[in-house]
Amino acid sequence: MKRTPETVVLLNFGCRDIQKFARLIRDRHIYTMVMPYTVSRERLLEEQPVGLIVCHEGMETQHPAEQAAFKSLNLPFLNVNLENPSVTDTTAERAVDFCLTSCGCRGSWTMENFIQEVIADIRTQVGNEKVVLGLSGGVDSSVVAALLHKAIGDQLVCVFVNHGLLRKNEPEMVQEVFARSFAMNLRYVDASNRFLDKLKGIANPEKKRKIIGKEFIDVFAEAAAEINAPFLGQGTIYPDILESIPLDGNPAGVIKSHHNVGGLPKDLHFKLVEPVERLFKDEVRAVGRLLGLPSELLNRHPFPGPSLGVRHLGAIERSTLKILREADAIVTEELLKSGWYDKTWQTFAIFVPVKTVGMKNHQRTYDYLIAIRSINTVDAVTAQVVRLPWELLDSMTARIINEVQGVNRVVYDTTPKPPGTIEWE
Ligand code: XMP
Repeated sequence: MKRTPETVVLLNFGCRDIQKFARLIRDRHIYTMVMPYTVSRERLLEEQPVGLIVCHEGMETQHPAEQAAFKSLNLPFLNVNLENPSVTDTTAERAVDFCLTSCGCRGSWTMENFIQEVIADIRTQVGNEKVVLGLSGGVDSSVVAALLHKAIGDQLVCVFVNHGLLRKNEPEMVQEVFARSFAMNLRYVDASNRFLDKLKGIANPEKKRKIIGKEFIDVFAEAAAEINAPFLGQGTIYPDILESIPLDGNPAGVIKSHHNVGGLPKDLHFKLVEPVERLFKDEVRAVGRLLGLPSELLNRHPFPGPSLGVRHLGAIERSTLKILREADAIVTEELLKSGWYDKTWQTFAIFVPVKTVGMKNHQRTYDYLIAIRSINTVDAVTAQVVRLPWELLDSMTARIINEVQGVNRVVYDTTPKPPGTIEWE
């Protein structure tokens, strides 16, 4: 389907930095799409591009047959070398100039225009039918909810599953924003006991993840069956799609396999509605802002699907999960108060099922350990430890030890990725 006028296609001849380059051009209101150089002529022309930019690292002479085939389309054509990341900005300027002068682009790619276009698309696709959407409280599914609600109102039914591993006040916040302020049709399913019972005594990280994933699918499928909607809304975003396309046509070059939110299996027989699949994360946030979603929701740190389940090491008990939830809330509160929340990619508490000896009110204690991890990263593939101010770590530590029953020691994780992963499980 041709939706956006003035599409310029970036043909990827093996550039690692191509997402950044595509975003820089989009920031100048020109819609870019990235395609592998192995793309078929038909697929390319489906987008009715007004120009082509061949992106390579180093030698311009790679894959001459494909280059010649693209040239023969007689579209405005530019060659850029993205080998050196330090010149990406100036190269993007040159590309923008090419789009404006040679391709006839006017720079009309704005999020306001996108919202209008996509709302019309959603209405065409869905008609009078219902759409079910799994709302996680994360940025992508929240923005999809707001977009679908604007397009089809009560035909949208959101399902929010409380799996018992959510952060403090999360169920309340999601209900406040979506059910009350947006007046959306929201089904709140409290399945905490079901999840926590299944997880009882399970300490192996992979087993925990599998149980959480499978249970989530079952609970969601049950709720969706009652709604009887032919369509499923999904918060797939553009990097999910780009990273599932191999750089060089070789499937082993895939960065990550295309996953959808909550990892729902295909045999649920839904038709998918993926209204932000063409957007980069920053664009998704901008759409959310225009639709009136609160900034504390749009600027939230990424959060793993299995939630506190992978930050509570070992077997999950209700009592120790409560310890983690309280400690996590204190870490977030102190981060926000100090202004460090927005300066880090992810900062969180981890519950370590190890007891150490301590002192409190002249009494010997023998209690659990909480670790704090704070990292910055560009793509979550590698990550650096953030040097949080000592005063901030001090106040987090003091509050956790004073306010959280059952903790008498706090440690800071100084391990970058690699060798550590971001999450501990
Ligand atoms: P790791 O721990 O692999 O994490 O260094 C990289 C990024 O992915 C997030 N993460 C997940 N996200 N489901 C998700 O949606 C998961 O199961 C999951 N595990 C890790 C992690 O928070 C970090 O941002």
